[in-house]
Amino acid sequence: MIIAANLKTNLTRHDTALYIEEVEKCAQKSEQEVLIFPAISSLDTFETKVEVGTQNAYPTINGAFTGEIGLEQLDEFGIKTILIGHSERRHILGESQEFIAQKFDYFKDQGFKIVYCVGEPKEVREAGKMKMLAYISAQYEGIDTAYENLIIAYEPVWAIGTGLTPTLEDIQDIHTELKKKSPAPLLYGGSVKVNNIKDVLQVKNVDGVLVGSAALYAEHFCTMIEYADALEK
Ligand code: PGA
Repeated sequence: MIIAANLKTNLTRHDTALYIEEVEKCAQKSEQEVLIFPAISSLDTFETKVEVGTQNAYPTINGAFTGEIGLEQLDEFGIKTILIGHSERRHILGESQEFIAQKFDYFKDQGFKIVYCVGEPKEVREAGKMKMLAYISAQYEGIDTAYENLIIAYEPVWAIGTGLTPTLEDIQDIHTELKKKSPAPLLYGGSVKVNNIKDVLQVKNVDGVLVGSAALYAEHFCTMIEYADALEK
């Protein structure tokens, strides 16, 4: 399974290095594919089994894009994994589907592993399944769903950082629909915690998880990795 941590705008460079060191110890003992997305200022060359990716980058080698980083800055640290389409970038930073697709193409051409996020806001879910599927389908526009280095993460916006989660039946239902769109591994994200990860990982068509706040302590994230190992035994 794929167990990924999105650290968002948390932890300093110093604390991130310690965090990765701790997680590496449990990843070494684990069968899981472990990914960590630290803040951009914490990126570095990590010679670890844990794969370190960037939460964002601009689709350029370098240039005049104030506040962004490009391929050159990722290459410096050998970063070959990127998170694209996260709901916070779509909704807080205002990234359009068109721009997200452009970013996707650029990093696909560079052979990056792409964790591509999709998910609906609360009002869309409340509008019913057809509306919800139409909304999520629009987030697949311009995306090569057959890309070999693609991982998709389904993260309902209303479940991110809120402690709310869909029911396990709802997760299974939407994951089954999304599996028809792409053969890529499909992660669930949105308030995954130590106390619900076992249930989530056992849902059909869930190939792993993308964890935010509950992954901020290495000890907790390691527990989740261990749970995933235990389930596979
Ligand atoms: P959360 O965030 O686990 O804090 O809900 C998940 C994410 O945004 O990827």
